[in-house]
Amino acid sequence: MRDLVRETHLAKSDLIMPVFVDATITGKEAIDSMPGIYRFGLDSILDEIKEIVDLGIESIIIFGIPDHKDDLGTGAWEADGIVQQAIRKIKAAYPDLIVIADTCMCEYTSTGHCGIVKDHEVLNDESLKYNTKTAVSQVEAGADMVAPSNAMDGFVAAIRSGLDEAGYENTPIMAYSVKYASSFYGPFRDAADGAPTFGDRKGYQMDPANRLEALREMASDEAEGADFTMVKPAMAFSDIIRDVRNNTNLPLVAYNVSGEYAMVKAAAQNGWINEEQIVNEVLVGLKRAGADLIITYFAKEVAARMK
Ligand code: PBG
Repeated sequence: MRDLVRETHLAKSDLIMPVFVDATITGKEAIDSMPGIYRFGLDSILDEIKEIVDLGIESIIIFGIPDHKDDLGTGAWEADGIVQQAIRKIKAAYPDLIVIADTCMCEYTSTGHCGIVKDHEVLNDESLKYNTKTAVSQVEAGADMVAPSNAMDGFVAAIRSGLDEAGYENTPIMAYSVKYASSFYGPFRDAADGAPTFGDRKGYQMDPANRLEALREMASDEAEGADFTMVKPAMAFSDIIRDVRNNTNLPLVAYNVSGEYAMVKAAAQNGWINEEQIVNEVLVGLKRAGADLIITYFAKEVAARMK
């Protein structure tokens, strides 16, 4: 009877699994602050992809860790960058898997910032050029969609026109529209080695105290041509997910970020919570709040239980 009146359902097709590919390693390396999550070398990335595909997960979002960093984040946009190489390999072996490329520079710049820095300031418009080059090179490599995450002003419009000019009119953009400057990204910055070497990201990420700003950010990305919109982080921001849901008809993605994963794992490892039940509650809660899709490090575990 309870099933008959259930309002919210979680499906495998809702889940997007993050994948880290690392140019500096062979095999796989554990990420200490994210138990169960690994960085993979190019030699072992297909082992992870096979597991993901065999579990019935239909999409991944891919992040790269390069073997060189510089002022222009060259590794983000060069044709044989780590992510570009990985995408070519993945799409050749699994053409039906939806590969979303995180489009950012923080893993690739020597400053660890998401754009080009001059005199300790991140230059918005200058950064857009390199962000666009990154998106185009990722799509050239075979990405089905780009997900710009630097959250700078005008990033969707810049990438849309860059992709169109390169002949990729049909490639969609998943915009990290509502991205808060959050401490919940801590474990990710260990995983992807992308912490800023000075300052913080408050110049281009939002104040967690703001609600109306979220609607402005979403609306400007939608007007610029975003095909999917996103709220990130998720758990402490489910009111924002609902607000955004009520104000757009775009597919809405919630990013259940690294720190949210780490908190649940840590409590579970201590025997303080029932992990399986908590994870289901979190993910169903995000869907109830209004998310259509969830990027989550729990995707594989949840899909395995759904089998
Ligand atoms: C890159 C990026 C970040 C995350 C996704 N893309 C880090 C950041 O903005 O600092 C965080 C994801 C997570 O914490 O799981 N800009």
